[in-house]
Amino acid sequence: MRLESLRLLHFRNYPHLQLDTRAPVNVFIGENGQGKTNVLEAIDILALTKSHRTHRLAECIQWGEQFALIEGRVQRNTGSSELSVTLTTSGKRAAVAGIERQRISDYVGMLNVVLFTPEDLQLIKGSPQVRRRFLDMEIGQISPLYLRDLQQYVRALSQRNQLLKSANHNPTERITDTLDIWDDQLARHGSRIILRRAQFVRTLERHAREIHSRVSGDREVLSLSYAKVSPEQTPEQVFQMYLHELRARRSLDLARGVTSVGPHRDDLVILLNDREAAAFASQGQQRTAALSLKLAEIELIREEVGEYPVLLLDDVLSELDPVRQVHLVSAMGAQVQTFLTTTHLEGLGSLAGALQVFVVEAGQIRAKTP
Ligand SMILES: Nc1ncnc2c1ncn2[C@@H]1O[C@H](COP(=O)(O)OP(=O)(O)O)[C@@H](O)[C@H]1O
Ligand SMILES: [Mg+2]
Repeated sequence: MRLESLRLLHFRNYPHLQLDTRAPVNVFIGENGQGKTNVLEAIDILALTKSHRTHRLAECIQWGEQFALIEGRVQRNTGSSELSVTLTTSGKRAAVAGIERQRISDYVGMLNVVLFTPEDLQLIKGSPQVRRRFLDMEIGQISPLYLRDLQQYVRALSQRNQLLKSANHNPTERITDTLDIWDDQLARHGSRIILRRAQFVRTLERHAREIHSRVSGDREVLSLSYAKVSPEQTPEQVFQMYLHELRARRSLDLARGVTSVGPHRDDLVILLNDREAAAFASQGQQRTAALSLKLAEIELIREEVGEYPVLLLDDVLSELDPVRQVHLVSAMGAQVQTFLTTTHLEGLGSLAGALQVFVVEAGQIRAKTP
């Protein structure tokens, strides 16, 4: 798929911006602090209605303005569509061809993106929360049902936690009855989330393993594991298992005032040659593993969606060694449309014909003609 145009209004340091982005590779070049990452962030939000940089989308509204608008035209095998996301201080709206989608899950997936940033290393080194967020964002963009389960799970979880706290170590009969209801809700949505994650991780591992073995010259085997379920289990089995765990932990949960088990606590474990990468791999190995996961994501989306996502590369080329650079750059070009930011054009020589260069300076962008 391709993003053919991008228009911004009051977004970060762009009062107004209109770009023709039909080229296979769009390069944003400029000094630090000029607005390169802001453009990729806008594309990320257009695709996912979320930013990788902040949980508070209102931060993206240009200072002194009331709203921000991101618009783009996406060309896919199935046709083209006009997407837009509006950010206000009180929330966000997403629309296709000018018609608002009431549910975010009916919007996300119109444009698929895979973003590479220097912070990807946190996928290996960071807290479980980083990996859960990765799973949720990536599965969310290929599965509307997953997004819906996730929203309902989060709601049920916060209700259950409130109830646990209000019980104050000493639940009445009414509280126990209500807890039964929330346990059921949690297990219903939670089991679907767990199973979908297990399936996703299995597929991601298949691609990541092959890519990683190539990049590491067959020296390293990358494995992934998630939770205690296997993708072959039935939804009913996972539901019963999770419900059972919730019941078994109830008195502990009442004592602590929080829900101690479920997909909001699970972790994705990343192994290199059967050892946990976070603890035992070198910085370079960890970087390669993170890159393999992201490259695998591209193949996974192509498998599930039927076409390649758009790649967003923020300042990543310069920190890769030549072997990994070649690997990443070879994934780009004719097949995979790419948007990348850099401070200099070195290393992109092989792509010369496919490049559209944009010079970024203080919230203004001008297309460089060859
Ligand atoms: N809400 C906002 N309104 C106006 N300017 C903003 C806003 N948020 C960030 N900026 C400006 O955007 C610039 C950073 O842009 P960024 O895309 O991160 O730069 P880089 O080119 O280094 O990637 C900074 O100058 C910052 O002041
Ligand atoms: Mg930047």
